Amino acid sequence: MTQLINLKREEEKQTLKEVAEAMRKGELVVFPTETVYGIGTNALREDAVEKIFEAKGRAQDNPLILHVSSKKMLSQIVQEITEVEQKLMDAFWPGPFTIILRKKEVVPSLVTGGLETVAVRMPSEKIAQELIELAGVPIAAPSANRSGKPSGTNIQDIIEELSEEVAFMIDGGDCEIGLESTVVRVIDDVPYILRPGKITAEQIKVVVGSVKIDQHVLENLEENVPVLSPGMKYKHYAPESKCILVYSQKEERMIEKINEIANQYKSPLIIAKAQNIHHYPFPNKLVEGKNLEEISKNVFKILRKVDDYHPDIVLIEGVKNQGLGLAIMNRLIRACGHRYIEC
Ligand code: TXA
Ligand code: MG
Repeated sequence: MTQLINLKREEEKQTLKEVAEAMRKGELVVFPTETVYGIGTNALREDAVEKIFEAKGRAQDNPLILHVSSKKMLSQIVQEITEVEQKLMDAFWPGPFTIILRKKEVVPSLVTGGLETVAVRMPSEKIAQELIELAGVPIAAPSANRSGKPSGTNIQDIIEELSEEVAFMIDGGDCEIGLESTVVRVIDDVPYILRPGKITAEQIKVVVGSVKIDQHVLENLEENVPVLSPGMKYKHYAPESKCILVYSQKEERMIEKINEIANQYKSPLIIAKAQNIHHYPFPNKLVEGKNLEEISKNVFKILRKVDDYHPDIVLIEGVKNQGLGLAIMNRLIRACGHRYIEC
């Protein structure tokens, strides 16, 4: 039986110790981070990590992120760190930033999908930090969702999906950011963004002077092309309903295009910015937010609601591909199965 814990209640605070201990022993725990909820366990126990793949229905070649609470914990799992890598960690940790480093022997190959590298992140969310610290071991934690579903950003969205699979679920309210961390790998001193997130290309460039965005961040992958990050290969975030992402630099043109397509269907669902929503004369509409921060926070929650409307088409307003906008577009393009119209 899963135990649901709400740490806002004073009497439940001491139970965090108990939860951390269970995690150390190999139980699965759903916990909040500043990005999305994670489903985590002791990263150094292969039998525990195995349970994560089962609970999520995740392909075993898709490696996990290890969460640490200190530099000391980091040094247990990775080999030498270059100057550029160190600068990035100093700038963005703790926070929504994951870096791919060379792993040490102690990290089970199941964690890394057989790769010699390991993804590591130090979260800033207080409950997550405390939990990792109390567990005393790195915590392997993918986003808390069944594979292919949008990542969980609040307990209500994932309670049914995962409660059978885990020992504890910690309710920490809505995640502050709502999109998963930025994933970066440094090659020949140049950071490559493999998955965009709250830490933007622009911010990374300021710290180390250069940055590249992997082409697969927005483009569709051709089959059998080697990728730097296995996660790029998999279907993500997609509702059952057919979704189309529409964007134009000119707001009026985007609105016109969405209306034009929606008119060809019987029961369209429109997902638009708060300031644009009144331009769509259809009964089924969802507000994605009024700015990039709000959209980032809401997008997974909204994608989880789409199918409830039984739409015959879903039309989603895009945003400019810059800053946090790149991360939003990366998730939306995948949710739409790469059906994207730029006009
Ligand atoms: O914000 C986050 O990163 C959340 C929270 C829970 O921390 N976690 C998360 O984990 O999003 P997950 O497993 O859903 O995504 C991990 C991504 C995948 O795309 C995976 O392929 C990539 O990181 N990854 C992991 N290890 C890698 C490695 N060694 N090389 C390249 N990519 C790697
Ligand atoms: Mg995920």
